[in-house]
Amino acid sequence: MIAIGSDHAAASLRQVVKEYLEAHQIAYVDCGTDESPSDYPVIAKAVCGKLQSGEADTGILLCGTGIGMCMTANKCKGIRAAVCSESYSARFTRLHNDANVLCMGARVVGAGLAVEILDAFLQTEFEGGRHQRRIDMMMEPEG
Ligand code: RB5
Repeated sequence: MIAIGSDHAAASLRQVVKEYLEAHQIAYVDCGTDESPSDYPVIAKAVCGKLQSGEADTGILLCGTGIGMCMTANKCKGIRAAVCSESYSARFTRLHNDANVLCMGARVVGAGLAVEILDAFLQTEFEGGRHQRRIDMMMEPEG
């Protein structure tokens, strides 16, 4: 299950992503928002909450740059969020970082590129092995 959310700056990109998920018969829960203006941390925390409760295993967060969503998501326990503007990073953040939340900026990427990035993210599995040890180190409490 995918949890998806955007602020007002990325509402139309959220629609594009939802259409992609529907076309690929991928189940999702939409955490909004259709409010404008809106506060991205509220949406980021709603999506991350779905992962933390186990209702979703993957999150997609969209805002103007993707950065505010990513910063907020990475403050949530158990979340590894990556903001991606091209598909190479999307692929490798799954392979090496086991990212569970993809963030994108609607003012940075167009709809076509966003779908390519999303496709790369969703189709790539975590490689495990030596990367798991690094993830364990990453997820240690902040020092
Ligand atoms: C909203 O104007 C904008 O600040 C937000 O969408 C996002 O880009 C923040 O990181």
